[in-house]
Amino acid sequence: MKPLLRLAPFDAIGRSSAMRLAARLTAVFTVAILLAGAVSFAVLTEELRARLDDQAQQLAKGLADTLRKEGAAALSTQIGAYTDAVDDHYSLYLFVGPGGKVLAGNITAPATFTGRKILRAGKDMTLLSGEPDEQDHSFAAYGIRVGDAWIVAGRDTVWIGDSREVLVQSLGWGLGAALLISILFATMLARRSEERISRINGVLDAVACGDLSRRARDARDDDIGRIAGSLNRTLDQLELSIEGLRQVSNDVAHDLRTPLTRLRNRLEPLLARDDLPPGADTQIAKAVEETESLVRTFNAVLRIAQLEGDSARPEMRPLDLSALARDVVEMVDLVAEDAGDSLTLNASGPAMVLGDRDMIAQALTNLVENAIRYCPAPARIEVSVIPDLEGAILAVSDDGPGIPGPDRTRALRRFVRLDSAREGEGSGLGLSLVAAVMRQHGAALTLRDNPDAASGRPGLRVSARFPKAGD
Ligand SMILES: Nc1ncnc2c1ncn2[C@@H]1O[C@H](COP(=O)(O)OP(=O)(O)OP(=O)(O)O)[C@@H](O)[C@H]1O
Ligand SMILES: [Mg+2]
Repeated sequence: MKPLLRLAPFDAIGRSSAMRLAARLTAVFTVAILLAGAVSFAVLTEELRARLDDQAQQLAKGLADTLRKEGAAALSTQIGAYTDAVDDHYSLYLFVGPGGKVLAGNITAPATFTGRKILRAGKDMTLLSGEPDEQDHSFAAYGIRVGDAWIVAGRDTVWIGDSREVLVQSLGWGLGAALLISILFATMLARRSEERISRINGVLDAVACGDLSRRARDARDDDIGRIAGSLNRTLDQLELSIEGLRQVSNDVAHDLRTPLTRLRNRLEPLLARDDLPPGADTQIAKAVEETESLVRTFNAVLRIAQLEGDSARPEMRPLDLSALARDVVEMVDLVAEDAGDSLTLNASGPAMVLGDRDMIAQALTNLVENAIRYCPAPARIEVSVIPDLEGAILAVSDDGPGIPGPDRTRALRRFVRLDSAREGEGSGLGLSLVAAVMRQHGAALTLRDNPDAASGRPGLRVSARFPKAGD
């Protein structure tokens, strides 16, 4: 089930490994601080308890010394002086004489004990003085027997609680501040590495779209920097290999053009001879046609290579796409008519873009020729030019069989002809020339079904979005 509400920061944590690492480190850090706090808490409590026990023992031993050296009356007076002291709310004293008679002290007598014991006010004994809110305190007490007498001294454990409170509070503030700093710091570091990774991603995307010249600019000597370095080296190598490959195919195309033209020039005069065996003239005419088609293919390969290799920078001049489309439609109208198709132009007003007129005209001609070639007659073919605020869209729509979604990217590659077209003439270079021309013009090329096709077939709409002149 999809969550109803997706919170952007948590989404980011889920998607980015750097953010996930930062969140994990913060969690580990929090647990570590809490653990350290718990240990300090236990150690502090133990230490305070031991101190209070010591104090109670010292007090009780002092009282026992007084009894031994100075007698019961002196001890009662001493205890009286202690319990009357206004500033001492936190100590308890008890002097019980022979027969269990309480001779002095500030508590009622609890059950007799010697050594250490925790005495709870209100349960084990009652405080005879002190504030009402102290009536349930616990005391670390120490009991000593001296002959028939019994002496108890104790210290209020409220100190332990108070100190713990201070510790918890300071831990809370400390943890809060430390967490805030670590979250900010971790998020900052995570963002930074995320940005670096997304720059590398940008390069990979550009490479995937055919731009092999992009490089990741990240010279830092860490893992991401090293990945960027190896990516750059791989791309250098790849660019070199592709350049080499391109060079070889261009050289082949270039070198074969001349012998092919020579071959055609030798074949053509043969057609004029009248001593040819029967049927030979048709064969020779076919051979001439094939050679011409081969020369055309090599010319197209070289043209695309030039466009892709940036050596044929288009001559960018302001031009009106509508006027250009009108000229192309007029030029191919007869061919469409001969094929039994209807070719219309839909261009309402001028659409100014920057471009190379001849290149765009060639690309548009290729698209219209494809529509004529691949749509069963009578086809409806429309060339449209739609100017808008961002530039202009030049599109060719038909109502033929179209190109299925998964084949669209493939159809733009060189020498690719789809199964349906294998039998007919053509070399699979028309669309790759269109793609190369559009790339040179910064025009985004889209192939999709033609929503206006009324033939029952999906049809095809090839559109190129030209940026506004001056962008
Ligand atoms: N309008 C269209 N309708 C249906 N399929 C098309 C259309 N345009 C192109 N195709 C398909 O895309 C393939 C590639 O087209 P592309 O123009 O690149 O080559 P081609 O027409 O086969 O040969 P060339 O244009 O070099 O003479 C075609 O072979 C065809 O299968
Ligand atoms: Mg074609």
